[in-house]
Parts: sequence; structure tokens; C-alpha cells
Amino acid sequence: MSMFWKPGTEKPQLLDDEEGGVLFLSSSQSSSSSSRYGYASMGKQRLPVHKYRTEILYLVETHATTIIVGETGSGKTTQIPQYLKEAGWADGGRAIACTQPRRLAVQAVASRVAEEMGVKLGDEVGYTIRFEDITNTSVTMIKFLTDGVLLREMMDDPLLTKYSVIMVDEAHERSISTDILLGLLKKIQRRRPDLRLIISSATIDAKSISAFFQPSKRHRGLEGQGLSPRKEPAILSVEGRGFDVRIHYVEEPIADYVRASVSTVMLIHEQEPPGDILVFLTGQDDIDAAAQLITEEARTVVKNSSGLIVLPLYSGISRAEQELVFSPTPRGKRKVVISTNIAETSVTLEGVVYVVDSGFSKQRFYNPIPDIENLVVAPISKASARQRAGRAGRVRPGKCYRLYTEEYFVNEMSAEGIPEIQRSILVSCVIQLKALGIDNILGFDWPASPSPDAMIRALEVLYSLGVLDSDAKLTSPVGFQVAEIPLDPMVSKIILSSNQLGCSEEIITIAAVLSVQSIWFSSRGAQKELDEAKLRFAAAEGDHVTFLNVYKGFLQSGKSSQWCHKNFINYQAMKKVMEIREQLRKTAKKLGMVLKSCDNDMEVVRKAITTGFFANACRLEAYSHNGMYKTLRGSQEVFIHPSSVLFRVNPKWVLYYSLVSTDRRYMRNVITIDPSWLTEIAPHFYHHQGPNPATH
Ligand code: CDP
Ligand code: MG
Repeated sequence: MSMFWKPGTEKPQLLDDEEGGVLFLSSSQSSSSSSRYGYASMGKQRLPVHKYRTEILYLVETHATTIIVGETGSGKTTQIPQYLKEAGWADGGRAIACTQPRRLAVQAVASRVAEEMGVKLGDEVGYTIRFEDITNTSVTMIKFLTDGVLLREMMDDPLLTKYSVIMVDEAHERSISTDILLGLLKKIQRRRPDLRLIISSATIDAKSISAFFQPSKRHRGLEGQGLSPRKEPAILSVEGRGFDVRIHYVEEPIADYVRASVSTVMLIHEQEPPGDILVFLTGQDDIDAAAQLITEEARTVVKNSSGLIVLPLYSGISRAEQELVFSPTPRGKRKVVISTNIAETSVTLEGVVYVVDSGFSKQRFYNPIPDIENLVVAPISKASARQRAGRAGRVRPGKCYRLYTEEYFVNEMSAEGIPEIQRSILVSCVIQLKALGIDNILGFDWPASPSPDAMIRALEVLYSLGVLDSDAKLTSPVGFQVAEIPLDPMVSKIILSSNQLGCSEEIITIAAVLSVQSIWFSSRGAQKELDEAKLRFAAAEGDHVTFLNVYKGFLQSGKSSQWCHKNFINYQAMKKVMEIREQLRKTAKKLGMVLKSCDNDMEVVRKAITTGFFANACRLEAYSHNGMYKTLRGSQEVFIHPSSVLFRVNPKWVLYYSLVSTDRRYMRNVITIDPSWLTEIAPHFYHHQGPNPATH
């Protein structure tokens, strides 16, 4: 592929690259990265936040809320919790919490901080993500956790009394859980004047968060007096230490960003001096594809290819792979990290000098009217593009190659992303708030209000699931039990139904598999072999039953990694499935369920799945020769994803677990159903569907 690059129009004074050109991330440049890429020189004292240590501690002491803005890599996440601990915030038996929207970031920063403090991970410094708790209540002083896990903790401890300071990190990402958390923390603050909040982020949108935390007139009055802290939020900007990044744009729009990113990497490798390359793609599929292509090209085309180390970075990679990504590049080598937008701000990679930005990321989009939530590869915002470019200026002046035109950047890209709460299905969010006793959800104090249509849809689904009653209150026991299980309410519901249907062992296995990214080992070059391997397990009933076959095989093999390898199954993912399964069995027993197996009665398994996923029922179009389905509810066109065992089989009636959109809307994880189950199981949901679907 031939591509022509054009440097951005230079406007050296610009602090922000609204119109392209050189991106000045900050004014103060240090030229002291004397060691190669500056690994050794990045001592704790050298991080930009260090200069602000006293000020941060003073602000936290005297203000209920402190907002800290600082460029990625300035030390916010790893240092501030340590400062707080040193200042005694964890001495009174309460811990310091630091939330992250992403699990991988939680693990990565917790390991790093434990290492810096010279303690064992899980003792003074620990972390909790869903299904993995590496903390020790009596000794853990600094705890990293996902925003979602902190929300769950509120179900047992509504005022979060375990913590003295809560740092809501990466607030600019505006994940759904972060937004809910901000709303709830604002409430908690009124009841707990001793609690301190730190809200930290990488971009400059401090004003809107600050406005959100302004005390209302009703609550103002006592501030600054006696021991109670000021209620007006404090804002602190940490000046970064990034280097200039020169932006290059493609001259013409490109058709295939995976191939274009591969050629750009090869070009950089051939023509540019040493320095690691960070490529932003969208998800496991395109990242694995690009990694494969780069490895192949490096082998065949490029002369000095031995120097490339190609590493993927997305949430499904193993701990060992994570370590490779974060460890220093060996001398004489060049690392190419191909990442989702996790590397945009959540984690810092040292040594990156070149960034290749596809201009896309995978985003959730929800449309309440046809009631469809999609995971879509969508254009990023200007704010994201700037963050991505900034990753190239960590250790010395860098370059960013944008795989889109300057004209596109200037005229087409939106300035900011849309908060996740405004583009997601709200079923989980509603049930969590209900479980926390927040009944008036539309009247909740949101940092950004969700759409009323989406809210109504969520209430409707929860009502049909039997989770809410007609007054929109949680039902007892089903509603409370569904809220208790740390899964999507639809999955929690199928676990509960499996109790009556006598197939809880099977459904728990399925729920565990659905909680991991993929149990198949994806390998581009070996698509045919993977498909053949899948056929060995494929069940006519669909993917969920196929998972049960894989699980059985795995147990019969004695949980062997060789067996997994031979069958194109991801051993790490299977180990994770076993762990999650155990946790879910414990939760189920706690809820009073008696775990039972239905042996080989797959009809009850499919029925149990229907009790949670009836809203995702689809029918094959009668005259469709290309496998087109329509959703029963919104008449949307959908297709079975090629990764499904039912791809090309095209049974008439199916249910899907999730949708992804590329050129079309694809259903992922599909099973066959009998349409009469729909009206039997969800009469409320299908009653105004016109003629009974079973009569078609
Ligand atoms: O949160 P923020 O982006 O401000 O910075 P940080 O994550 O606290 O990173 C501060 C420094 O620690 C950077 O130099 C990182 O490269 C380093 N770090 C690391 O080497 N490994 C990690 N897992 C996390 C941070
Ligand atoms: Mg951070």
C-alpha cells in the first residue's frame, strides 16, 4: 500500500493543536534523559507531581474535594496514594482507595506501587477487580480497584466507611461507573465530612467537575470553620514534562487502517532512529491481525527485522504478556505495542517515541428506540487524538502519525467524546441504583443526565425480567438476588432461573465463559485450523452449548494446557473461567441455591438462557439468502457473526448475547430457541408484538 504523509501545518505558539501542527504538551522541557529512554532517571522525585506534594496534601487536608489535572505519566496514580499514606491518611484504620475504569490498569498500577514501596502485592498495597481480590483487610492501606467494584462495595457499606480518602482517577474517561460514583460520592460527602475525595484526570475539563461538586446553597454555611473542610472544590494543575510531538497526517483518506498502520510501523522502523512505537487500534481482532502482519512483514520484507518486538495490549492478555509490555526494551531492539485506547491515558509506557493513531476506538452506542446496543468501531474525538499524540513525547521529542487527513481532524472530528452513560443500555445502572435505595433515578444528581428514553427502556426490561415490580421497586427475592450477583442483570437472571430449571451447574459455567473475553485462541494465520478445532466442540444448539462441550473436554483432559493448545483454546482464559465459576458457585450458594446439573438436557439450558435474554430474540427473514435476521422487538437487521458455530447454519429462531457492528450488525454468541418460549417466559415484553411470534 502506498501512503503519502504530510506534516501538520506548523504553528509553534499553539498550546493546543486545534488546527494541527506541532503539539506543545508543555513548555518546560527537560533534556536530562541521559540514560537510554530515561528509565533509570525516572525516579519518584523526578515525576512532575513530586513538586506539588506539599500542596496536594494541604488541599486534601483542607478541602472535601480536590480536583487534580495532570498530563498522563506525571505520577498522579502511582504517587498521590503514596503521599496520602505517608501523611497518615491510612493510620486510623481506614484505607486509601484509588479507582480506575479499567481492570488492566488497576493491576498494572497496583503492582507498580507495591514494587516502589517494596511491599508484597496484597499486603499494604492491594487491588480488587471483579472476581479477583488481592487485598488483606487488616493490613491493606492503599487499595486500587475498578470504579465498578467500589460501587458494588456500597451495597454492603453505603457510606464507604472503610476509606478515608477516595481518589476517582481517570475521571475524564467518564465511564458509566465513574459517573454513577461521582453522583453517589457527592451524597456521601454530606453524611461524612471526614471523607476526602480526589478527582484526577488527564484533560482540562476540571471546570465542569468542579461545578458539579459545588455545594448547593442549602448545604453551604459551615465551611472552613472548625474541623470541617471547605466544601468548594480545590483545583490543582500539575504541569507536565512532555516533549514536543510533531504530527503527520495522511494526504488522502485511507481505506484499511489495519494495513495502513502496519505499513506505517514498517516505515518508521526502516527510516527512523531508535524508539518504541505505540499503535492505537480498536480491539483484540484488529490488534491480533496487525501483530500478525507486522511479524510476517518483519520476517520477509525488512532487512533489519530482527530488532522488532511486537506486543499486543488489550484487556484479555495474560499477566506475563502485560509484564513484557511494561518492561524496558532490550538494547538494540524496538518495541511495537499495539493497543486499544487503554494506552491513551490509563497506563504509561516508557520509551515510546512514535505513535500511530488509527483515529478509531471501540465504543458502545445505544439507541433506545430500536433498543439496540452496539459495540462499534467509531471515530475518536479531538481530545483523544491529542492524548494519543502526547504518548510520543514521554522521553524525548516524538512523532505522531495520524491515519486520517488534517482536514478530517480539523473539520470532522468532534471536540470531546460523549460520556458513556449517554450511549449505553442502562439496565445495570438502574438496578445498582435501586439496590442502593435510590428510587428516583431520573431525579438523581447526574454529572451528565442519561436519556429518558434509555431509562424507560431499562425499566421496562427490568420489569419483564421480574427484577422490578410495577412501582419500579426491586422485587423480593428475585430483584435483590439479581442485584447481588456481580454480573449483567440478564446473566444474573439466568443463574437464578437455572435453580428452578435444575441446570445451575451448566448455566454457571456458561456465565463464567461469557465473563471472559474469548476462550478461543485467536490466530490470524491459522483461521482454518481454528474453525476445524471449533467443529470438534460445535453443538447444533449454538455457542453456549458449545462452551459446555469445551468445558467438559477441558476437565477430561485434566485441565491440560497441551490439550488447550492442540484445540485452539486459550488456556489462560480457561483458568480464569474456572476461577470465576468457583466464585459464582459461592455466590449462588449464599443466595440459597442448590447447585444441580441437568446432565444432557440442553433444552432446559436454552430455556434458562431465554429467561434472561428474551429481549434479544431474532428471526431469520423468510426469503433471506444471505442469512439476514430481524430482531423481534425492533425489526433491526442482524447477522450471525462468523465466529459463531451457527454461522452459515442459520436456524430460524435465535437469541444472541451481544451485538458488534462493523460493516453490519453481528450477533455474538447465539443459541437456537423455540419461539413459544418467548411468550411463555416474557409475556409482558412480547404482548404488544402484534401476532404471537409462535404463529409465524
Ligand atoms: O497517573 P499518571 O498518568 O499521572 O502517571 P503514573 O501512572 O503514576 O505514572 C508515573 C510513572 O510511573 C511513569 O513514569 C510510568 O512510566 C511509571 N509506571 C510504570 O513504569 N509502570 C506502571 N505499571 C505504572 C507506572
Ligand atoms: Mg494515571
